Amino acid sequence: KILILDFGSQVTQLIARRIREAHVFCEVHPCDVTDDWVRDYAKDGNLKGVILSGSHASLWEDETLRAPQAVFELGIPVLGICFGMYAIAAALGGKVEGGHKREFGYAEVRARGHTKLFEGIQDYATPEGHGMLHVWMSHGDNVTEMPPGFKLMASTESCPIAGMADEERRFYAVQFHPEVTHTKQGNAILKRFVLDICGTRPDWVMGDYISEAVEKIRQQVGDEEVILGLSGGVDSSVAAALIHRAIGDQLTCVFVDHGLLRLNEGDMVMDMFVGKLHAKVIRVDAAAQFLGHLAGVNEPEAKRKIIGREFVEVFKAEAASLKAGGADVKGAKWLAQGTIYPDVIESGGAKSKKAVLIKSHHNVGGLPEQLGLKLLEPLRELFKDEVRELGVALGLPHDMVYRHPFPGPGLGVRILGEVKKEYADLLRKADAIFIEELRNFKDAESGKSWYDLTSQAFAVFLPVKSVGVMGDGRTYDYVVALRAVQTSDFMTADWAELPYALLKKVSSRIINEVRGINRVTYDVSSKPPATIEWE
Ligand code: XMP
Repeated sequence: KILILDFGSQVTQLIARRIREAHVFCEVHPCDVTDDWVRDYAKDGNLKGVILSGSHASLWEDETLRAPQAVFELGIPVLGICFGMYAIAAALGGKVEGGHKREFGYAEVRARGHTKLFEGIQDYATPEGHGMLHVWMSHGDNVTEMPPGFKLMASTESCPIAGMADEERRFYAVQFHPEVTHTKQGNAILKRFVLDICGTRPDWVMGDYISEAVEKIRQQVGDEEVILGLSGGVDSSVAAALIHRAIGDQLTCVFVDHGLLRLNEGDMVMDMFVGKLHAKVIRVDAAAQFLGHLAGVNEPEAKRKIIGREFVEVFKAEAASLKAGGADVKGAKWLAQGTIYPDVIESGGAKSKKAVLIKSHHNVGGLPEQLGLKLLEPLRELFKDEVRELGVALGLPHDMVYRHPFPGPGLGVRILGEVKKEYADLLRKADAIFIEELRNFKDAESGKSWYDLTSQAFAVFLPVKSVGVMGDGRTYDYVVALRAVQTSDFMTADWAELPYALLKKVSSRIINEVRGINRVTYDVSSKPPATIEWE
């Protein structure tokens, strides 16, 4: 395994991700672990290398941020990245000039000398034969003097010592960030370090992660009870499956049905978690309560606020009863959440200082404090694609784990204006037909379904009526809009160029099968200036 010591960079977890992608096990621990901890961690002989991460600000002046000296006494390779390079320089007798504000940006690095870390790795060679690398790098603090035994490994115009190595002791340090994708050869460099220099074997798979995570959850929770808000979305589902694997019936899931879910979604969640996984799930049918509060409300933000508030109310009432020992739960002490790493980054929590941060845009944000519960977040270190892989490894169905995202307020933001049960019922049927056909239609070239080729797709209910003709009669019915987008980050999005044959099939099925809808339109707006959801 590889140990990553985190000095608090926002991208530290990316190091872990790249290494796990290379099928090598690694763990991230805060940089302030003690020498004894390090020696103990290495005791079983499985530790093959240490990586010292970057830091999120210019913190060189902060004397508490130093690497434990024991790291350099284990006889195993060490790689310092950015701040980690300063840590190496400082620990081994070099000099760092600190106190500057750091900038993060593109740079071109020239490889110097011949080191095992860079051997054969370059983006291009200069006419003089120097290997050049396109990298993402922090400028600012600099190593101004290398420690004894080190030689120059890389430089840039503004940073003469951009990389250094003591190949005898197998200590390497780079000023740039190999873990970010902008550093084109970053993967190759990290792989070179963990596989060739540290000598790990690429035999780690997600299945191994499960046993580690299960063990961790058991230790954390002991024999106490845990509550989890299950939404049916990917993150909470995978968290539930993982925690259930670890502690079985000590976990109680609360599934709030607000009446704004997709067709049969509630039943599917229950079938999966109760029927197949045999987990304890309390299904709260709160549709009447939600719809009651939404009656007469047209304004999108007001609707969102009501849905958010009611969700918290319902969940709190349920959790309070479980906390007090209701419904054959002894009295829950923990609240589990499916927070994943991007949520941690978004809320600024990716620091080694251990403050617990809660996913702010989540429906249950703020609840742990209000309920006096401890937080359990077993997916905190994982990226979305890792969460999906984990879900599959835990036995969740592929279709559930690779679902498009669904917003917390559900159909509430897809029924324009006032939400009514009648509208929700019509929309659910139309939406289900659209999704079914997206799954059915395969793209000839890639062989993938259009569901997989789009990032998010759904129907939107427009509460306006238009005239149509059906058989011999005149109809005067509602309109739905279809929306399908392609995006990598949901910040910007293009509308998907769905095949006409697919649109034709969906339109004809919706109009024929959903009584009350006689017109289907396709939304051809990109984001920006439109948003993905209509409200
Ligand atoms: P917009 O409409 O802002 O949506 O382009 C971007 C992405 O965010 C999802 N979304 C939400 N997700 N709670 C959520 O959990 C919400 O309140 C919410 N509003 C929008 C939307 O579905 C899209 O994927």
